[in-house]
Amino acid sequence: MPFLTAEGQTYSKGLENVVAAISAISAIDGKEGILIYRGIDIEALAKHSNFGESSYLLLFGDLPNKHELEHFCADLFGARELPENVVNCLKSLPPDPHPMDILKLALAHAALYDPDKNRMNRKAKIRKAIRIIAQLPTITAFYHRARQGKEFIMPNPELDHAANFLYMLSGKEPDPEDAKIFDIALVLHLDHGLNASTFSALVTASTLSDMHSAIVSAIGTLKGPLHGGANERVLDMLEEIGRPEKAEKYIMNALKEKRKIMGFGHRVYKTMDPRAKILKEYAIKLSDKYNDRRLIDIALKVEEVMKREVSKKGIYPNVDFYSGIVYKFLGIPKDLYTPVFAIARVVGWTAHVLEYTEANRIFRPRVLYNGPIDREYIPLEQRP
Ligand code: ACO
Repeated sequence: MPFLTAEGQTYSKGLENVVAAISAISAIDGKEGILIYRGIDIEALAKHSNFGESSYLLLFGDLPNKHELEHFCADLFGARELPENVVNCLKSLPPDPHPMDILKLALAHAALYDPDKNRMNRKAKIRKAIRIIAQLPTITAFYHRARQGKEFIMPNPELDHAANFLYMLSGKEPDPEDAKIFDIALVLHLDHGLNASTFSALVTASTLSDMHSAIVSAIGTLKGPLHGGANERVLDMLEEIGRPEKAEKYIMNALKEKRKIMGFGHRVYKTMDPRAKILKEYAIKLSDKYNDRRLIDIALKVEEVMKREVSKKGIYPNVDFYSGIVYKFLGIPKDLYTPVFAIARVVGWTAHVLEYTEANRIFRPRVLYNGPIDREYIPLEQRP
């Protein structure tokens, strides 16, 4: 009965602690709360780098020199426009789907017109990666404008990735300090080891399917509330709590009912996520700048109660806990928080696809069958 045995095989629910790939892109020290991109601490990148430079680092392995950076940014900023048919399609969609579904749909649509669609060599894969990274913000912003019945704001090649997205959403050039904070938030989300969506991208790419298909798989995976979808739900929770004085009772009840508190806990971090630490700082800064501490005061109280109650289990704020408050002050609507996550993480997805497929092996794990065996086939007419 070979399908009943796990001989020579190990089973780990949710692949916990299973090493499924070797990568030189990013690494996490879950005990110390450290994240590095290509060896450089995320804190240093948040402080000194930016989206273009950190994306180059992740995709190509080294920080770019001046010429390489200019070249890369010119390619990236010049690839933001969408094929005309995709633009027309975005105009004709119903206003109520979740924007993550629109990202999947529009990216799959754009793939049909990609000039490299039939090429699978490394250079073509890089060109496709750059186009996808450049186009996801345009898709998100255009859809958001279309669902409000507003004209599209064409990308502005003079603006960097972060500022251009905020500009395409609102039609106004953002305050430079706010655009810089958004840029930092994007840098913090660029990559994170073999998380669920990156793994999805790799599973698809490992079959030698194309870059667009891999990224569409990843977007579908990021959508879920246990992954990228948590940031939206954190804001729902803070709004539901309503006032800092109500946080204690709300959290204690939720823990009693064994409900998960969104924005807390992580498979790898057993201390505060270093990205949450930085985002917390900016959430406080923006709350003070805009003189509105309602959400941050509730969030700080939630963190205090969670620290007292569950930090002994290694549950601390993750990247999603404070990001929503930052995005709210930047004028980004709540249902775009997960697409914004995708706009950053697509860099990691594409970097991992490029790396993994260089020494590809198809992912094909086994399942431990625990169903019945030796059952007799009963013809339809004899079944009860
Ligand atoms: N709130 C309360 N308790 C929690 C939380 C939480 N957010 N997260 C974990 N726990 C508890 C569990 O109830 C469990 O307790 P028990 O051992 O007493 O039963 C223990 O911690 C282990 O939890 P698991 O769910 O087994 O941990 P796992 O590693 O499978 O899950 C996950 C990690 C999915 C992130 C989980 O912590 C969670 O659901 N968090 C809320 C959703 C969230 O914020 N997701 C974003 C993650 S970061 C990202 O993807 C960008």
